[in-house]
Amino acid sequence: MSIESVSRESRVFPPPASFSERAHLKTREEYEAMYQRSIEDRDGFWREQAEAFHWFEAPETICEWTPPHAKWFVGGKTNLAYNCLDRHLGTRGNKAAIIWEGEDGEVITLTYRQLHRDVCRAANAMEKLGVGAGDRVGIYMGMVPEAAVIMLACARIGAIHTVIFGGFAADAIRDRLNDAEAKLVVTQDGAWRRGKVIPLKAQVDKAITDCPTVKHTLVVKRAQNEIDMEPGRDKWWHDMMAVVSGKHEAPALDSEHPLFILYTSGTTGKPKGVLHTTGGYMVGTTLTSKYVFDLRDEDVYWCTADVGWITGHSYIVYGPLSNGATALMYEGAPNHPDEGRFWEMIERHGVTIFYTAPTAIRAFIKWGERWPMEHDLTSLRLLGTVGEPINPEAWIWYRNVIGRGECPIVDTWWQTETGGMMLTPIPGVTPTKPGSCTLPFFGVSPKILREDGTEAEANEGGLLVIDQPWPSMLRTVWGDDERFRQQYFSKFEGKYFTGDGARRDEDGYFWVMGRVDDVVNVSGHRLGTAEVESALVGHKAVAEAAVVGRPDELTGQSLVAFVTLKGGFSGGDALKAELIDQVGQEIGKFARPSDVRFADGLPKTRSGKIMRRLLKQLAAGVTDLGDTTTLEDASVLDKLRQ
Ligand code: WTA
Repeated sequence: MSIESVSRESRVFPPPASFSERAHLKTREEYEAMYQRSIEDRDGFWREQAEAFHWFEAPETICEWTPPHAKWFVGGKTNLAYNCLDRHLGTRGNKAAIIWEGEDGEVITLTYRQLHRDVCRAANAMEKLGVGAGDRVGIYMGMVPEAAVIMLACARIGAIHTVIFGGFAADAIRDRLNDAEAKLVVTQDGAWRRGKVIPLKAQVDKAITDCPTVKHTLVVKRAQNEIDMEPGRDKWWHDMMAVVSGKHEAPALDSEHPLFILYTSGTTGKPKGVLHTTGGYMVGTTLTSKYVFDLRDEDVYWCTADVGWITGHSYIVYGPLSNGATALMYEGAPNHPDEGRFWEMIERHGVTIFYTAPTAIRAFIKWGERWPMEHDLTSLRLLGTVGEPINPEAWIWYRNVIGRGECPIVDTWWQTETGGMMLTPIPGVTPTKPGSCTLPFFGVSPKILREDGTEAEANEGGLLVIDQPWPSMLRTVWGDDERFRQQYFSKFEGKYFTGDGARRDEDGYFWVMGRVDDVVNVSGHRLGTAEVESALVGHKAVAEAAVVGRPDELTGQSLVAFVTLKGGFSGGDALKAELIDQVGQEIGKFARPSDVRFADGLPKTRSGKIMRRLLKQLAAGVTDLGDTTTLEDASVLDKLRQ
């Protein structure tokens, strides 16, 4: 053993004994035994796990795997909303299911009984509007309790929801609604963000002038801003909810009944509709919530994600509620009215488990320790992160300043496509290393492969692949099964390719490095550079655009656009601002490039492919660009450098 080789990143933090003693899983041996079983006797393991749920009819076959298509709990009939709500009424009816805090400080608590009633009403309201099993429902909302209510109501009646993040603009909403052929859109008049009203209904109005399948909108009144209501088409939520019953019988749905579509960025301009189905997603998100958050009945659990992203689906709504937990949901910004908001909320509600993103943690660090110091955070017992690699400095700060040097941190790696957590510590069991998402969850079989498909050695970087099916995996890309096969299962035949680069260290711990494709992660938002490029090329002055990510201290990555102009146009600050605004208008403000650089030409190979590697290096300020011999015209580089 060499003492000198102990570097900062090799620090190891074993779980505190006081945590392990009370945890669902207490020892490494327990985890190892369960993990081994989940891999060696996959069907037996999951059959047992599925027994904890309500099935109207028990599954016959546990997993049918014909790569790339998996079916889980085949023949089983269930209902996810029933499992999240009805199942708990006898034991936890009066327990808080959702504690919601508005940005203005208003607090609403919905018990399981109350949430059940609202979900039943919303289910009846949708049925009254002609929405039934298999129909698609667009949800474009802020973080209000009605967002969770309508998601659960869709799950209840078997309508397929597609939640569109509230930061998207009209064009992006339209594309998603049209791809899903949505029949109903649920929205709100406006959402509160940093004390201002974001007009949501107005964006929907713009979007659906071009959405022939949309028959109705259902509008929650939240911000009281003035909006247009088209008679016959647009209905107020409160009007509909007032005239329907609070009773609704949950139908028995097939285990493989589609649950939701969630659009996510890929390597082409068109977002992919990732499809999840009922039974597998239910079992996967419930089990990960239980073991990774070590959920107990007395916990107050807070996930700060937005319901517009997968984390909000799996770990605000479905996973926690299926476990009968109490979930806190917050409407607004972390720095409103000041930078102490989150810590004040943790103190006020006695939050015990806190799950957030590295980009948020880096913002907390920037704002300063004085904000958390002003509050009593001793209720916290577990911290989590998700969405991007966490740098060890931020990890250590999180542990020391927020977690008093005591709370375990679960750094959870997963994706929209995986539905639930895949690589993650088990908090009472796994010694953690800052920056590593540690070990696979039950049933997850990860491999690090070289380009040629052979397995990488310990500590050798490679491509992260999952070579066995797992219950909460995506089933297809909505309306484009060929793209599903091509995108995820063609690089390594029959194995799921994640798009991430990673290495596994000598202890078997995973270190995810980030995307290897043209997907950029800005503040935990996944953006396809191709989408941003097509928004730029839509501007009359732009001939060609290439967008790449560069490292950013706060947001993880930020976007830099390289743009060539059509004849007669010249670059300048005014055009730069216009182009940035164009992206904001078409996709949403969160997708705006932080820099636009004008160029006479883009570096291309002789076959005409833009050499993104070079642009990435230029954007990051790297001076030695390595091998540039495949460039068609080397002189463009000199110009771009200037
Ligand atoms: C990245 C979010 C490192 C990764 C749940 C992945 C992470 C993409 C981590 C998925 C983590 C997520 N460590 N990288 N703990 N979690 N990522 O679909 O690149 O929005 O492929 O799902 O985020 O982003 P998505």
